Formats: sequence, structure tokens, C-alpha cells
Amino acid sequence: MMKNILRDITYGMYVVTSKNSGCIINTLTQVSSNNLVTISLNKDNYTNKVIKENKKFIASIISEKTNPNIISTFGFRSSKDIDKFENFDYNIIDGTKVLNENMIGYIECEVINVIDADTHDIFIAKILSTKKENDYTPMTYTYYHEVIKGTSPIKAPTYIEDTEEVYVCDVCGYVHKGPLSDDFVCPICGVDKSHFKKKEG
Ligand SMILES: Cc1cc2nc3c(=O)[nH]c(=O)nc-3n(C[C@H](O)[C@H](O)[C@H](O)COP(=O)(O)O)c2cc1C
Repeated sequence: MMKNILRDITYGMYVVTSKNSGCIINTLTQVSSNNLVTISLNKDNYTNKVIKENKKFIASIISEKTNPNIISTFGFRSSKDIDKFENFDYNIIDGTKVLNENMIGYIECEVINVIDADTHDIFIAKILSTKKENDYTPMTYTYYHEVIKGTSPIKAPTYIEDTEEVYVCDVCGYVHKGPLSDDFVCPICGVDKSHFKKKEG
């Protein structure tokens, strides 16, 4: 299958949070005009487990002005290992941390059904409330790839396996494909080439 055409499917970029956990997703979809949305979460993601227990989540809409460090922290590390909110501004809404970092706003949801989808679960949820905070431009998945030069980790549904040389930043987890030049710096956290380890296999 020619997977690259799947890159032409358009998505937005979101941080989905529940209690003290959160991760980046691109799979938020409005199902219908009757206030239902779906999100797709990898079964190994800690946020999946927390949302199943809490039955609620908040999806914040990332804007083009949102700090890219939010994506490296929430998209490449696990809430099981670190406090992802530590270096960011956030509010707490009904026990859930919600980032306050140039987001467009957020959608508060209650889970009404979970559907098994192989490696992922699809959560169907009812919108409880919404808040629009800024008129910035929402970040699209294409913008993330083409302007921020970001990649997707293996747990993202849109992950595409690659045969190129792959290097991973040992500070933020950013993944670079192809050879590294001597003056290469991480586009996400700014460290130099010495922090990039070649990914084997
Ligand atoms: C651009 C991007 C899109 C992603 N989309 C999803 C997604 O839709 N569903 C998902 O389960 N993980 C997705 N991920 C991966 C999770 O954000 C990542 O596995 C995270 O480390 C999980 O953290 P947690 O263990 O704290 O839940 C995406 C990551 C990136 C960078």
C-alpha cells in the first residue's frame, strides 16, 4: 500500500488531557451536529488508561502560536514517567489540567462509548462545554510537518514506517530523518547534533 497518500488526509492538532495526564492527538473528529466527537488513542498511552477511568477529557486546540515544546513534551514522552505540565502554564477544570499556552480554546467531553480498534481505542464522547480563548489560526497536521518539520511517533495512528536513517533527540524525542549536518540543531528543543542517537532496526 502506498502509505504516503495518507499524508494528504487533513487533521488538526490537539492536546487531550484528563486529570494529570495528557498527550498530543491529531484524531479529534466531530461526528455529527448532535454534540458528539471521537478521538483515537493508542492502547499503550497512559492518557488512554486515565480517560477510561475518569470518563472525561478535555481537548485543547493547538494554534500556530503554541510553543512547539508542548508537542515534543506531550507527543513524545509519557505522563507515566514525567509531569508534562511542569514547565507550562495551565488551569485546572473539574480536576483536569488544561494548558493555557496560546491554545485556540478547549472542548470538555464525557465518554459515552469506547470501541476497540486493534492497536487503538476509539472514544465516542459527548461535548459538555466549550471555551474559545483566542482567534489564532489552528495548527494543522500539514503545518506541523511542513513548517515545524515534526514527525509522528510510532504510537500515533498516522505513523509511517521509513527506510531512511533515523536519529532521535535524547532530550525531547524529536525524530530526524536523513543524515545530520555538523551544524544541525534540534528544531524543537535546540540542542546540538551530539544529542541525536541513531535509531537501529
Ligand atoms: C503529531 C502527533 C500526533 C499524534 N496523534 C496521536 C493520536 O491521534 N492518538 C494517539 O494515541 N497518539 C498520538 N500521538 C502520540 C502520543 O501523543 C504519544 O504517544 C504520547 O507520548 C502519549 O503520552 P501518554 O503516555 O502520556 O498518554 C501523536 C503524537 C504526535 C507528535
